[in-house]
Amino acid sequence: MPCRLSPGLLPAASWQRLLQDLPRHFGTDASLDATTVAELSKWLAVHAATSRRFAAVPPQDRITRSDWFAREHREVPADAWKRAAVKSPANCAACHSGADQGDFDEHAVRIPR
Ligand code: HEC
Repeated sequence: MPCRLSPGLLPAASWQRLLQDLPRHFGTDASLDATTVAELSKWLAVHAATSRRFAAVPPQDRITRSDWFAREHREVPADAWKRAAVKSPANCAACHSGADQGDFDEHAVRIPR
């Protein structure tokens, strides 16, 4: 699935580690040329999470393993994550129609059946 950056959902330390390992990006080769990596690195350093809410480094630098993710999604039924239209918790846009604009407002959430 395409990677849509919402930089403010991970701390800078996580982004930097992910950038250093793009050829093994959660099982996908996400390699980019060195210039692009350098630009992304600068951009992510500026736009990474600063609010306390998203600032903790989650296990494996995975957004979906962070405490806030578990808390915000407590009410999502367990089977919803595996539905054909969702497939994975990382598929944010399946439920958050504004995900590619970084909009996770609860008013734009719809869990597909
Ligand atoms: C199976 C559907 C589903 C998927 C997939 C999903 N979410 Fe959610 N998300 C929800 C629901 C439902 C809520 C709770 C909305 C509410 O508070 O009523 C929520 C809440 C949130 C909130 C809090 C919104 C607020 O206004 O407080 C954030 C931030 C968020 N999700 C981010 C993400 C991110 C990032 C991903 C992908 C890595 C993701 N979600 C994947 C269904 C989903």
